[in-house]
Amino acid sequence: MKAALFATALAVAGATAQSVPPFRYGTPSPNAPGVKGVNSNGPTNPKTPQLNTPINQKSESRLASLNSVDDWCTFGPRDPGTVIGDVEGETVAYCTKARNNARVIPDGTVTAAHFVKTPLYVQLMALGDFTKIGIVAGDEGGELDPHGATNMGNPVGGNVTSNVSGEDVFYEEWMNYVSYNQVCFRICIAGSDQAPTADVCEHELDVMGCNFVMPGNYADNVFETCDGDAAYPPGHYPQPDGSTSTFHQFFTGEYVVNGQTMQYTNGAADQVTPTAAYSTPSTSNCRTTDTIKNGIASLVPAVSSSSSSASSSAATSTGASSSGMASSRAGSSTSGGSRAPAATGSNSASGASSSSGNASGALSLQASGILASLAAVVAGAYLL
Ligand SMILES: *[C@@H]1O[C@H](CO)[C@@H](O)[C@H](O)[C@H]1NC(C)=O
Ligand SMILES: *[C@@H]1O[C@H](CO)[C@@H](O)[C@H](O)[C@H]1NC(C)=O
Ligand SMILES: *[C@@H]1O[C@H](CO)[C@@H](O)[C@H](O)[C@H]1NC(C)=O
Repeated sequence: MKAALFATALAVAGATAQSVPPFRYGTPSPNAPGVKGVNSNGPTNPKTPQLNTPINQKSESRLASLNSVDDWCTFGPRDPGTVIGDVEGETVAYCTKARNNARVIPDGTVTAAHFVKTPLYVQLMALGDFTKIGIVAGDEGGELDPHGATNMGNPVGGNVTSNVSGEDVFYEEWMNYVSYNQVCFRICIAGSDQAPTADVCEHELDVMGCNFVMPGNYADNVFETCDGDAAYPPGHYPQPDGSTSTFHQFFTGEYVVNGQTMQYTNGAADQVTPTAAYSTPSTSNCRTTDTIKNGIASLVPAVSSSSSSASSSAATSTGASSSGMASSRAGSSTSGGSRAPAATGSNSASGASSSSGNASGALSLQASGILASLAAVVAGAYLL
């Protein structure tokens, strides 16, 4: 009996290992300030999220919904083959279903999807070959959020909804990381004094990647829906004395307003970049499905059918040429198949990490993480 329970716990260990006390966030409310979208919806979006809208792979709709493991969207390039960090402001929505007047993600793109609902947010973590929605092979990706350098949204006019509360709701704070092989998307659906949406859906850790900013189960070939505990806000590291150390990514960059180039600096040059999130929140009530698909055959692009039948590794090794796009992007094509995090954001970011000093406990926590996780698995087995 114990052996069987242990095996069950191991099977979901990636999702449930909990090595530190969970984040205490009080009593979150969907009506807290900063939760629901109150300003106008983007001009290229339909007024409300809708299923079964006409398929238009040139759509400019920037309305993304996160409803379930097989009904979600991500932002992606308007012009296939453009490096996403260069065009964040113009990205458009791509959805697993025909919805929101948006573009549709072709079947065969997504190889794993994990949909987790927590008291503070819903989160989607997906793996696949996102060159099929126009991401450049090897592109480590970009970070989309409702702010952007000019605070007009990245993309400008991008909006998000979820129906996990029982009805379609527009939400104000969210973040979406997209790379050629990984997508993650968090929408904050409730807030509290301890967990304001601006912290839980914080958007300034562009280069840290999905696993750091949205910790969870990123196992490939799994399609699952789980309830989950809420993660500590990205970059928050509780300290033994009860205080919290907050990591702010260091980068500098520039943006153009009315033809004028403006500079900005985030974080501090002498800080240390942690290697992992403080913890991976536990999940429960996970239900798996075999796969997700919409059955829209016409969407599978003819141009990439030869490479897709040659397995997904084609995308990482020769994707730039075999998919017929981005032929001039050889420099950004990091072949080699390692599962790089969706990251990088602004292409003008520089000096994103510093290698000296220490990570205020984050590194030592990471070092002991494997043992702690194992201990948690064992503990979990007895709790089941
Ligand atoms: C749409 O996005 C903008 C920019 O982030 C935001 O100010 C606005 O509140 C959003 N509208 C809705 C209805 O969510
Ligand atoms: C929310 O979306 C899911 C997935 O499309 C759907 O199955 C469910 O019925 C929707 N729920 C509500 C309350 O609209
Ligand atoms: C690491 O940071 C802590 C807290 O700031 C400090 O006390 C400690 O001396 C630092 N260790 C090193 C090796 O820099």
